[in-house]
Amino acid sequence: MTDALDHGLRTAAAQDQVALICARYDNDPQRMLDILRDVQDQFRCISRAAMQTVASNTGLTQVAVEGVASFYAFLSLAPKGRVTIRLCDDIIDRFAGLDAVTAAFETAFGITVGQTTPDGAVSLEYTPCIGMCDEAPAAMINDVVVTALTPDKARAIATALLNGQRPEDVIADQFDGLKPHAQATHMVRNNIKHAGAVLLGPVPDDAGLRKALDQTPAQVIDQITASGLRGCGGAGFTTGQKWRFAAQTDDDRRFIICNADEGEPGTFKDRVLLTERPDLLIEGMTIAARAVGAREGILYLRGEYVYLRPLIQEVLETRRTKGLLGQNILGVDGFDFDIRLQMGAGAYICGEEGALISSCEGLPGEPKTRPPYPVTCGYLGHPTVVNNVETFCHAARIMDRGAQWFFDMGTAGSHGTKLFSVSGDCINPGIYELPYGFSVRELLEMTGGEDAAAVLVGGPSGTMIARDTFDRKLTFDDLATGGAVVVFSPDRNILEIVEYYMSFFVHESCGYCTPCRVGNVFLQKAVAKFRKGLANPADIAYLRDLSATIIETSRCGLGMTSPNPILSTLDNFPLVYSAMVKPPKDRFRATFDIQSAISDARVLAKRRSSIYDKDFSK
Ligand SMILES: Cc1cc2nc3c(=O)[nH]c(=O)nc-3n(C[C@H](O)[C@H](O)[C@H](O)COP(=O)(O)O)c2cc1C
Ligand code: SF4
Repeated sequence: MTDALDHGLRTAAAQDQVALICARYDNDPQRMLDILRDVQDQFRCISRAAMQTVASNTGLTQVAVEGVASFYAFLSLAPKGRVTIRLCDDIIDRFAGLDAVTAAFETAFGITVGQTTPDGAVSLEYTPCIGMCDEAPAAMINDVVVTALTPDKARAIATALLNGQRPEDVIADQFDGLKPHAQATHMVRNNIKHAGAVLLGPVPDDAGLRKALDQTPAQVIDQITASGLRGCGGAGFTTGQKWRFAAQTDDDRRFIICNADEGEPGTFKDRVLLTERPDLLIEGMTIAARAVGAREGILYLRGEYVYLRPLIQEVLETRRTKGLLGQNILGVDGFDFDIRLQMGAGAYICGEEGALISSCEGLPGEPKTRPPYPVTCGYLGHPTVVNNVETFCHAARIMDRGAQWFFDMGTAGSHGTKLFSVSGDCINPGIYELPYGFSVRELLEMTGGEDAAAVLVGGPSGTMIARDTFDRKLTFDDLATGGAVVVFSPDRNILEIVEYYMSFFVHESCGYCTPCRVGNVFLQKAVAKFRKGLANPADIAYLRDLSATIIETSRCGLGMTSPNPILSTLDNFPLVYSAMVKPPKDRFRATFDIQSAISDARVLAKRRSSIYDKDFSK
């Protein structure tokens, strides 16, 4: 099959089609991700011949094209089946029965995960969290999402596909006749369990944008600042300040980018906003454009949410026809702003804003060195505001209801409401919009997760807490989260969870820096050693030392937070580790000193050790 397909891809007709794809994007190298996505969709792989054509048409080297093609998990240099089934391999899916579902697919197709059927019909593979933890186990079948899988459901899907049905037909008989919103909600339920005052209650159309147009851009920024709004993507930077920096940077081009990459395992709140509040999101981006003086916007949608693409495209088109995007928006002379949809292609790191910008520029999704920050030097070197989906939605509501209304909700330091995506061992997984300040215990009571033994707040890059600290608050000052709250019952194995999350970071590291690329592998192996009962007492210090090194020497937030599953469980579940340690007499003595081993790297990086407080640069 592979030879025949390769040969097919080398034909003149195939290369003409690749050239047509390039032309669709004006042969623009900055649209490389779009070009390669389309090549992948059409030919099921990006062959060497296709890369050559793309390179010559976009004026890049073949090496540069291959650098992009090989970076993203959803692009493949080897041919894939006409249908690719990507089973979500998150820990929640594993706990929800992924193994049995996998076995059902494997038996039905006669292949194992990682293989393609000999006739080239179906490929079966695993993929990290696809943002459906409330509906696990879930999978993508090409661009279609199937949720709440069981072995029976898997067998039925396999039979339909083997009988020649399209993935869409598995969802609904008349799928093509449905409107994009109905198509999306037929695939994935949104599970809104608690609608709060800001985002999920009634929202009047474009009221915020209209009010923003009655004010000067500076007044809009003042309002957003006064509301206390902080970014909802995890870091919690003050939104008004971010907009002000971008507005104050001297340039004739500025950009607004919406980060809809939502890849943190356990997070799915942006998925729900994108489905239920897409107009509010675009309204918020348009207000930001007005505030900072941007004419161009990009909505970066993670590849796993490709099923939402028709919905977003429809909303953008409708807003253009209504004069809410495009030139002279709502009749305001000179207020021009439009948005392009940029699909991602399966890379968690692209949620990091520098990597996201690289990806939008047609490059591999590698983070950029900071400073400079995107607000002064972002997309194509111009001032760029990158905000999370939820942040833009909040901004639109603040402009409608006023800064004080938002400021008065929540706590000092954490104003307004927050969407929490709750999943795992609870009766009511789903979305909860609550004012900041609820305790974990209160949230567990709402979700039917009172029996929890552990709760992971903020996803693997956040904090895992134990029952004795469930009174801690969901605020920026205590337990900050971009939205993920994952509940684990007492019968779950904490070390299994930690090892899984370390494997996630190993898989998702972009590989640029050695501490992150290599160190996380060592950490994962060390946790595996504990799980097997082979650890010795020195291994606990090893885990802490290596974690500190990775945090200290990594270039971006992924490496700076990847040891958190280990560190927070060492702090909050120490017995889990000590119970697996064998007495020293049974084991070899440790002879490897990680701090000495990396001392040269410290000197090069001019870093001071926070642990040993010694200046290594001297
Ligand atoms: C590894 C990594 C992944 C991230 N993923 C996301 C994401 O999926 N969505 C998001 O909004 N922010 C994500 N962030 C944070 C962004 O870098 C950035 O801070 C955010 O988009 C800014 O928007 P906000 O101020 O509205 O939160 C991630 C950061 C890191 C380090
Ligand atoms: S810390 Fe990890 S993800 Fe970030 S740049 Fe370095 S290798 Fe890449």
